[in-house]
Amino acid sequence: MSLGGCKQIIFAVRHLKQRLLCCRKICFNNLRFISTITPDKVSYTARSHTCGELRLPDVKKDVVLCGWLQYERFGLFLLLRDWHGMTQLVIPEDQKDVMSEKITNLPFESVLRVHGCVRARPEGQTNEKMNTGEIEVVVKDLHILNRCTPRLPFEIKDFFKVKELLRMQYRYLDIRRHELQRNLRLRSKMVMKMRQFLSELHEFVEVETPTLFRKTPGGAKEFVVPSRYAGKFYSLPQSPQQFKQLLMVGGIDRYYQIARCYRDEGAKPDRQPEFTQVDIEMSFVDQEGIMRLTEELVSWAWPEEKGVISLPFRRMTYQEAMTKYGSDKPDTRLDMLIQDVSDMFKDTNIEMFHKVLGKDSGSVQALRVPGFWKHCSNKDIESLITSAKKGISDVNVVVLKIKDDASLQSGVIKNMEESGRKQLEKRLEISDGDLVFMAAGFAFDPHTILGRLRLSCADLLESKGLEVRDKSRFDFLWVHEFPLFLPREDGADGLESAHHPFTAPHPDDVDVIYTHPEMVRSQHYDLVLNGNEIGGGSIRIHNSDLQRYVIENILKENAEELEHLLEALDSGCPPHGGIALGLDRFLAVICGSNSIRDVIAFPKSHDGKDPMSKAPADISQDDMDRYHISVTR
Ligand code: AMO
Repeated sequence: MSLGGCKQIIFAVRHLKQRLLCCRKICFNNLRFISTITPDKVSYTARSHTCGELRLPDVKKDVVLCGWLQYERFGLFLLLRDWHGMTQLVIPEDQKDVMSEKITNLPFESVLRVHGCVRARPEGQTNEKMNTGEIEVVVKDLHILNRCTPRLPFEIKDFFKVKELLRMQYRYLDIRRHELQRNLRLRSKMVMKMRQFLSELHEFVEVETPTLFRKTPGGAKEFVVPSRYAGKFYSLPQSPQQFKQLLMVGGIDRYYQIARCYRDEGAKPDRQPEFTQVDIEMSFVDQEGIMRLTEELVSWAWPEEKGVISLPFRRMTYQEAMTKYGSDKPDTRLDMLIQDVSDMFKDTNIEMFHKVLGKDSGSVQALRVPGFWKHCSNKDIESLITSAKKGISDVNVVVLKIKDDASLQSGVIKNMEESGRKQLEKRLEISDGDLVFMAAGFAFDPHTILGRLRLSCADLLESKGLEVRDKSRFDFLWVHEFPLFLPREDGADGLESAHHPFTAPHPDDVDVIYTHPEMVRSQHYDLVLNGNEIGGGSIRIHNSDLQRYVIENILKENAEELEHLLEALDSGCPPHGGIALGLDRFLAVICGSNSIRDVIAFPKSHDGKDPMSKAPADISQDDMDRYHISVTR
């Protein structure tokens, strides 16, 4: 069967499932009430139709349209716009004088209500690009509901490129643009479907949890909120993690929430200080159960227009992700893989490789980038290497170019024996115009550098117009079997949680926690989509003693701050686990946006500010006194 045929069957089955769900809903509700609701886009409003709705069969209908003035020509033709589309309005000759007073110099983006009659456009004047291009509305009456200022900061036309800061300063105008309208509407639909899946199909309970909370140990930096009690602060939660675990203790065995989270982290295109998670927790569940539920949730909410996704999602251990892709969130749309070539250099006298080989965790890794040498300059390569090495010292990176005769060219390997060189060429499967990066270092450092180069080379090739990754492809991947603890990221001695302190160890490694905590695998899993971490979760520690041991003895944190949770774990806590999907990131990938700001109605700028309201803002001395605050500048 063709892929198209297959897709149709999947869509038909999904459609049927949804119809069945609706029927179920009707059975549970007041049938008379449900059945009187009609899916009419314009009921309850002053309009009879939307601006994208009228077609030839509507000719001769009396209609009322409302929308924004997109365009006006000769005082005779107007284009009226709303999200659904645009409709051409025509002022009849005999009304021209009466109407011209109203519409002459009427600024674009003014809001109008128009009463008129639909007619077919004269022959030769239809517009195939417009969904209403076969008709026009002859205006009988036109009412200006709101006259727009003639000096808007930018025009609401998709082909105008407007600086992001300006768009954020006037976000309400930006939201009128097609892209944001489309993204926000898709977001709303997906959230609705997720709620439907969780609440109606699987009996999850939606519970709201507090946003005024207390400081918690570990994890991201938290925003603090002053209180009336001198020196006492609330903290905004990084996520509802503790509350969802407490709900499990409370017997709410299936919880979810579309939860607002707050983290005072640095600015990146995939981060916001305030963001949304689809937060889920279940009792009496294992890792497999959470993964399957998540896959079905994603598939249920998946927008049909984005094509088919197949279940189950691919799985990969952390070890494999790091060794082959140099990242714990690999973009599997790219075929390039990192290869261990340490064995090829063991017996050579190449100084920079020799330094690491034979020492604990030392290795030489290679990455072949097909066609790169043909398309990029030495300067490009140098700058990619410099940024790939950021934050990692002690790794040597060398570049081998593959010249026209498909042989490796590099000063570094010039003294390598011919047979060894040939073997290397064969192992790397090189061909003309390729480029090979080699990195020598310890642990996963060389992999990480090559992993970064893998992505930045693809970005660079794409910026030069080459199609390296299929933009319409959605590669879901579970990364699992993470280590429970990693060396501290700030370089200080000791360990930190790879996920969070509440993550349970792998059942086979529980005892190792007391002897070699750095070797313990966890029951933590991340959901990755096209190289973006769009979700993360774990099975939790539900034993109070083990939780205390992890906090005090391994993470060296103050357990007093978590006494309420430790006490709860001792009060009949069921085994439980869960996941949180980063809704903004997930949507940004689906919408093909470069930044999560494009799927959030009112995001913060890259420096955490709101250019529209100018938040964060000063507060009065009275307010400062009330909260016992004094500011030193
Ligand atoms: P974690 O910290 O992995 O897990 O977060 C889950 C998902 O939230 C998204 N995310 C963000 N999105 C936008 N801006 C941010 N600053 C940001 N930080 C995280 C990511 C990430 O995968 N309580 C646990 C979940 C659990 O264990 O159930 C948690 O928050 O997509």
